[in-house]
Amino acid sequence: MSRRKFIASSSVLGAGMVASPMVFGRQRSMTGKPAVLGGQPMFAQKEWPRWPMWNPATDEKHVLEVLRSGVWSRAQVTQRFEEAWAKTIGTERCLTVVNGTNALITAMTNFGVGPGDEVILTPYTFIAVPLAVLAVGAMPVFADVELETFQIDPAQVAKKITPRTKAILPVHIAGVAVDMDRIMALAKQHNLIVIEDACQAHLAEYDGKRLGSIGHAGCFSFQNSKNLPIGEGGAVVSNNGEFMDRCYSYHNLGLPYGSMVGVVSASSVLAGTKIRLTEYQAAIGLALMERLEEETVRRDENARYLSSLLSEVPGIYPMKLYEKANKGAYHLYPFRYVAAEFGGLSRDRFLKALRAEGVPCSSGYAVLTDKPYLKDALDSPLYQQVYPKEQVDFDAYIAANRCPNNETLCNEQAVWFTQNLLLGPKSDMEMIATAIKRIHEHTGQLATGGNK
Ligand SMILES: Cc1ncc(COP(=O)(O)O)c(C=O)c1O
Repeated sequence: MSRRKFIASSSVLGAGMVASPMVFGRQRSMTGKPAVLGGQPMFAQKEWPRWPMWNPATDEKHVLEVLRSGVWSRAQVTQRFEEAWAKTIGTERCLTVVNGTNALITAMTNFGVGPGDEVILTPYTFIAVPLAVLAVGAMPVFADVELETFQIDPAQVAKKITPRTKAILPVHIAGVAVDMDRIMALAKQHNLIVIEDACQAHLAEYDGKRLGSIGHAGCFSFQNSKNLPIGEGGAVVSNNGEFMDRCYSYHNLGLPYGSMVGVVSASSVLAGTKIRLTEYQAAIGLALMERLEEETVRRDENARYLSSLLSEVPGIYPMKLYEKANKGAYHLYPFRYVAAEFGGLSRDRFLKALRAEGVPCSSGYAVLTDKPYLKDALDSPLYQQVYPKEQVDFDAYIAANRCPNNETLCNEQAVWFTQNLLLGPKSDMEMIATAIKRIHEHTGQLATGGNK
């Protein structure tokens, strides 16, 4: 089918006609044979938007200016980036650091989270998050996710709170909000610190507020794949001036807040480290920040549209959003794939069929609650000395931290697209949906003959 003809037919599909497998049957001829069965791929020659995007005409001047100045260590440009980011997120302060992992470490350290403390976090996240908890000597305590939202379940968080709990680390996974009202209420009730991991959530909103500005602090990543990419980079944002002064000092060798970078001094006031952003990194950030808002709106609109189309397909369950999740950053676009509703076609076979249509996709995160990095930490002298015996026994730890919903997402159901797939026209969403519908219509053929 030609692309033009296809778009014409797919917009008919997009109009909400596909409500049941019966209706699917009647539309078989409209979606065509899947590429994996020899049909024409839905996106035969497609070049998806590349990431990161770099526009020499508008972007290079920012970086060249810095390179030519010879001032490369932290100075005015970094400060300008921080002021701009704080304003964008809606917090009083922002401090840049070398990456999101160190933003989390900086925030935890300077709220006094450390050995002997428990930090509650989601198991459905990037490995950097539990690693950051371990880096400060605290105990990661995993609270399961809700299947429908992919986000940490506040009811499970409540169950995991003990007298040792010091902080909750809600990760806005995919760049869509956690149920922050319930998390903040729990934190208030138990006097806990909330550090939002907004590493995937640039400009996303909850209840009209930007993510990262709701908890006691928010952390961002500007790593290459992120919606604001700098290569590497991170930030802590907060309205707590005293805390931010400490964070600044911590990131600059423990020297007092406001100390000049590059001055040789032994006047460190706290046991800090050195994790400063460079001027050329900040320049890249400032350049790309100029189009972030527009890109975020496009991703949010396309994601919502795609969800409306995919929710018509039996066995496909787009990530549900909380009512107050006004705007998503959609660093990822995850949905649940239920093989039983695809005639038993395994997720791997489904992914293969979808890739054959020209749609890049993956199964996303693997389970991280039972991996050797945890044993390494639990066996270390620090953990052995500080924590009760039953908490540092690896088998007991694994048993206590099992999260069945997370296992279902990781091992069976989750399917991801990355954010750049959401930057094209609406017709891309229609074609992705039709590619999936096409696979669904042919599950009989796809799931037989050793194909499962
Ligand atoms: C949810 C989450 N938290 C933390 C990080 C760590 O950020 P970075 O890679 O910048 O260290 C990432 C990103 O990679 C992330 O996706």
